[in-house]
Amino acid sequence: MGNLLYYGDNLDILRRYVADESVDLVYLDPPFNSNATYNVLFAELHGERAASQIKAFEDTWTWDLTAEWSYKQTVEEGGQVSKALQAFHTLLGPSNMLAYLAMMAPRLVELRRALKPTGSIYLHCDPTASHYLKLLMDAVFGPVNFKNELVWKRSSAHNSAKRFGPVHDTLLFYTKTEIFTWNPTFQPIPQETIDNWYNNVEPDSGRHFNRADLTAAGTRTGPSGEAWRGLDPTTKGRHWAIPDSWATLCAVWILSLHSTLLTPLDVCSGRAARADAHAQALPRRIARHFCAGRDHGYQPAEQRLR
Ligand SMILES: C[S@@+](CC[C@H](N)C(=O)[O-])C[C@H]1O[C@@H](n2cnc3c(N)ncnc32)[C@H](O)[C@@H]1O
Repeated sequence: MGNLLYYGDNLDILRRYVADESVDLVYLDPPFNSNATYNVLFAELHGERAASQIKAFEDTWTWDLTAEWSYKQTVEEGGQVSKALQAFHTLLGPSNMLAYLAMMAPRLVELRRALKPTGSIYLHCDPTASHYLKLLMDAVFGPVNFKNELVWKRSSAHNSAKRFGPVHDTLLFYTKTEIFTWNPTFQPIPQETIDNWYNNVEPDSGRHFNRADLTAAGTRTGPSGEAWRGLDPTTKGRHWAIPDSWATLCAVWILSLHSTLLTPLDVCSGRAARADAHAQALPRRIARHFCAGRDHGYQPAEQRLR
């Protein structure tokens, strides 16, 4: 599908024009059931808001014949979504909130159908209905495919006399399956963190690093308590801090060779020539673990070892 803008009711558009498993990413900013009317805002020439505004859409939902019809259609489809709507009916009765959820349910079902198996969906809502929508999303996408609830602080304090200011929206992030596209995002480390933590510089490369203690308090009788390269942590009442994986053990090993802790990514990519040379000498299964770690978003070893 190219860059296309459809105009119309999205349920109809989805059913008519959007093929199964054709969409990578869905972001929806639907009505929130805010019980408000939203206008297209016009300003007068001198900049003040014009008295007459065009009503853009009404975010008010009423339990009427249309809502009841929509409810019945989804219930008759059966499955988890049907059960969820019936449970909402039991809980909420034939109410305006149920009308809103009955409107959302078939649209979410269509969006799931349209998503590729690797696709993701972000549902933007607010606390008016986010708790019901999460249950509905669980019913449509499966609780195992829930990834995050993102809280978006939208404004500073409101004048709410008798409660905390309602200042945030909520985004529910689900995927269609367990094998989904995820592009990690990065941002530079703040200068303050570099100054405070990564304040050692490797002479050859100019790279910053942190000298971290690779032992932790307490003795152990297992491998993490064993002497290694002439250092016995038990004699100092400590043990090697190996959380859960061989990757850390490798990092410890590389540290001793370089006095610099390199990350699994360094080792995998071979970007650090010295590390690469040593990585080739790593036992096979440890090297494999490093490479798997690269795909599964390991924290830099420096952080895990702190
Ligand atoms: C919360 S607003 C989104 C506003 C938009 N994201 C923006 O920043 O301007 C919800 C929008 O959904 C539209 N809408 C409501 N029901 C719809 C439907 N059945 N099909 C398509 N759009 C719908 C409304 O007209 C409204 O523009």
